[in-house]
Amino acid sequence: MDFSNRKNRMIRLSEVTKDYLSSIEKKTKEDPFYPEYHIAPHHGLLNDPNGLSYFNGRHHIFYQWFPLGPVHGLKHWYHMSTEDYMNFIDHGIAMFPEDDYDIDGCFSGTGLVEDGYLYIYYTGNKMLSPEKGAPTQCYAVMDENNNIIKKGVVVEFDSENFTQNFRDPMVFKRNNKYYMIIGAETHAQEGVITLYSSKNGKDFKHEGNIDIGISNFGYMWECPNYFEKDDKGVLIFSPQGIKSDNKYDFKNVFSVIYFVGNKIDVEDLKFDNNAYVEMDKGFDFYAPQTYEDNKGRRILLGWLGNSKSEYPTDKNMWAHMLTIPREIIIEDNKLIQKPIEELTKLIKKTSPIFDCTYLENNAFQLELEIFLEFELSIENEVEEKIVFGSKDNEFYLDRSKMTYLYAERFGTVRYAKRKVHEPQKIKIFVDHSSIEIFCDNGETVFTSRFFIDDFNIIRGKAIKGNIHYMNPLIIQGDKDKIIKRGFFV
Ligand code: FRU
Repeated sequence: MDFSNRKNRMIRLSEVTKDYLSSIEKKTKEDPFYPEYHIAPHHGLLNDPNGLSYFNGRHHIFYQWFPLGPVHGLKHWYHMSTEDYMNFIDHGIAMFPEDDYDIDGCFSGTGLVEDGYLYIYYTGNKMLSPEKGAPTQCYAVMDENNNIIKKGVVVEFDSENFTQNFRDPMVFKRNNKYYMIIGAETHAQEGVITLYSSKNGKDFKHEGNIDIGISNFGYMWECPNYFEKDDKGVLIFSPQGIKSDNKYDFKNVFSVIYFVGNKIDVEDLKFDNNAYVEMDKGFDFYAPQTYEDNKGRRILLGWLGNSKSEYPTDKNMWAHMLTIPREIIIEDNKLIQKPIEELTKLIKKTSPIFDCTYLENNAFQLELEIFLEFELSIENEVEEKIVFGSKDNEFYLDRSKMTYLYAERFGTVRYAKRKVHEPQKIKIFVDHSSIEIFCDNGETVFTSRFFIDDFNIIRGKAIKGNIHYMNPLIIQGDKDKIIKRGFFV
């Protein structure tokens, strides 16, 4: 199917044959760049994680999905769940864009667990004409059997105050009141977070935009995410339209920032905070969400991709994956990211790393000790490679020598100032075409895709440590649901 024609992006699942879907699934799964221990789509395009929550004894992960090809088309919500982050149930499509208010896409949103139900708040995308959209904020309810019933619109489009960039609701509860934050663009083309409140979670009233201490900071703030821990409030969002003149910050088309501060003052519409921090220094990280699990951990997953890039896997009819789950800890007003401990259960074999190590397969984790100057290169027999290192107190991630270059207009090297100026332990997760690097004790993270044919060697200078080969996720289909919807039989 040709998606250069924008109209085709709106073709519905019901309009294509099972054979078409099987053929693109085959291409996807045979792609050597397809991951083993990351959540990725059966075919088509995955983007933001949605509705992350711990509900009914399981972690629930939804994501944005366009099934028919590797482009941003008609979005569905896809649903997976897990008890242990090793065994997963694939629940299939959670929400189809089939109601009047979300007919052009079930866009991003979040989950709120209450009284034995998971309440889902999301954006219903409805285009009135090719140029004119009327996004509304909607809700749906999921019961303990994972059945979802859509309930309709709770916040109408406010065209007086905002452009059609008005989406990605997140609801939190405080003192028996519900608060919804939404990412929006004003008519002066400024990104804002706007606040609504409700006594029952259904009838919302507009309170106004929250003063977070910065303004004129890009034209749109997508995917706001907010949580409170002890006396602190943490706000994360994805601003669009930010550039910097230095080599360290905001090099991707769009980026993610976070703020640690006091709790949002919902009366005065104010969020007092320390300055923002860019959350990731790699090439491909966007729209993360967090949730609290049964152990009291705050867990984050992000979209391991970015907009406006064509990826080398497009030809195989799929795009993107989610990041590994990471535990978020607040330390000295900074967010520290740590791969969750369950990932160690996926380790199948461990061996030491040498100056030159031949790889047994392409899904692994490295636990390394690095020195002030070091370099690590993942490469193939013809020296196509991705290189990560540190020199002059900065880290660099260089993907200029990959087999397949892409998004070069945003640069081929990323830099971050090093925070820990002594030898340190780092972790690196590699899964066929993704790399996630945790350094400075989790304060500096690089998340990226990379595309190198048949890479089979790791070369290291001034590093020591181990390689842990990883088992794939074990995923079982929720057969009832999938057959009921006539899908993936
Ligand atoms: C972020 C985003 C959201 C939107 C969704 C649509 O990547 O643009 O703002 O809800 O993707 O798929």
